[in-house]
Amino acid sequence: MNPVLAELHDKARAVLDPVHHDFFAGGAGDEVALAANEAAFRRLALLPRVLRGKEIGDDFPVLLAPTAFHRLAHPDGERATARGAAGTALVSSMASTTPIADVVAAATGPVWFQLYVQPDMNVTEALVRRAERAGCTALMVTADSPVFGRHRRDIAHGFHDLPAGLAAENMRDLAGVPLRNIEMSPAISWDHLDRLRDMTSLPLWVKGVLHPRDAEIAVAHDVAGIVVSNHGGRQLDLAPASLDALPAVVDAVAGRVPVVLDGGVRSGGDIALAIALGASAVGIGRPVLWGLAADGEQGVRRVLDVLRDEFRHVLTLCGGELTRDMVVTRC
Ligand code: FNR
Repeated sequence: MNPVLAELHDKARAVLDPVHHDFFAGGAGDEVALAANEAAFRRLALLPRVLRGKEIGDDFPVLLAPTAFHRLAHPDGERATARGAAGTALVSSMASTTPIADVVAAATGPVWFQLYVQPDMNVTEALVRRAERAGCTALMVTADSPVFGRHRRDIAHGFHDLPAGLAAENMRDLAGVPLRNIEMSPAISWDHLDRLRDMTSLPLWVKGVLHPRDAEIAVAHDVAGIVVSNHGGRQLDLAPASLDALPAVVDAVAGRVPVVLDGGVRSGGDIALAIALGASAVGIGRPVLWGLAADGEQGVRRVLDVLRDEFRHVLTLCGGELTRDMVVTRC
C-alpha cells in the first residue's frame, strides 16, 4: 500500500466514530473477499520493458468508485469529495448524503450517477431524470446487489440507520413520497437494463460483473462499459478478488467495451497491474473515504495526487507500456 494512503487511513481511524469507521472499512461475512482484493495484487509482478524511448502521456486511468454516506466521514460530505476529485471522474452513489445536483455543482470534472434499480420502475425513472437534470454524464447500474450485504461489523455495532440529520438525499420526493428507503430486489434482471436503455440516452454501465458469461450478456445488451467488482468484498464473501476475475472478463469482452476494475487498489503499482491485465481504468473506493475523513477536500485531492504520481512513476519504469505479457506471478 502507498504509505500516504496508509497514513490517511490511520488518521481517518483516529477521527471517525469507530462504528462509522467499521461501516466504511468492513466487508461481508468473514471478510475473505475483502482481504482477497488487496492480496491479489501482492501475488503479481511486472516484467518491465526497457529502452523503449517512450515519453508517457497525462493519462490517469482512475475514477472515484461510488460509495455511500460521505457525510458520515466528513461534514462537507460529497461536496468535499467532488471538489477534491479535481477533474477526475466521480461516480456518485445513489446513496449519497448530498443531493446529486449539489454533487455535480461542486465537481469540476464529469460526474456519473450510480443506480440501484428500484423495484418500482416509476421510482427508478424519477431517479434517472434527477441524474439527467443534475448534469450527470453516465449511469452506472450496480448489478451485484440483489439483497443488501450482511456486514458483521455493522451487525455487532447495531448500526442500521443514518444518524439524525443525515439521509439518502436522492431518495427525497420521488413519485409522491417525501423520503423513500433504498430497496434491493432479486427480481432485477437484464430486462430492467433494457428498459433503462430505452428510458435514457445516457451511456449505461453495469457494475459488479465477475462471471465472463455475464460480461458477454452485458455486451449483448449494449452496455457502454463493465465494472469488474466484488463490491469491495461487501456482498458475496465467496466472490473471488476482483483482480482475479478480470482477465476472463477482458477476454470475453474482447475490446468491444471498456472494462473497469475496482477493489483493493491501493497504489500506483496496483493501477499499473490492473491496466496491464486489460482494464481501461480502475475505481478507488475506501482510500477516498479515508482521505475525506482525514482532511476533507484536501485529503481526497491528496489520495488522487499520490496515486497519479506513483502510477506515472511505475509506468515510466515499465518503459511506458503495460501489456498482459508483462504480468507474472511472484514465486
Ligand atoms: C461501497 N460500494 C458501493 N457500490 C455501489 O455501487 N453503490 C454504493 O452505494 C456503494 N457504497 C459503498 C459504501 C462503502 C462504505 C464502500 C467501502 C463501498 C462499493 C464501491 O463502489 C467499490 O466497488 C469498492 O469500494 C471498491 O473497493 P475498494 O477500493 O474500497 O477496495
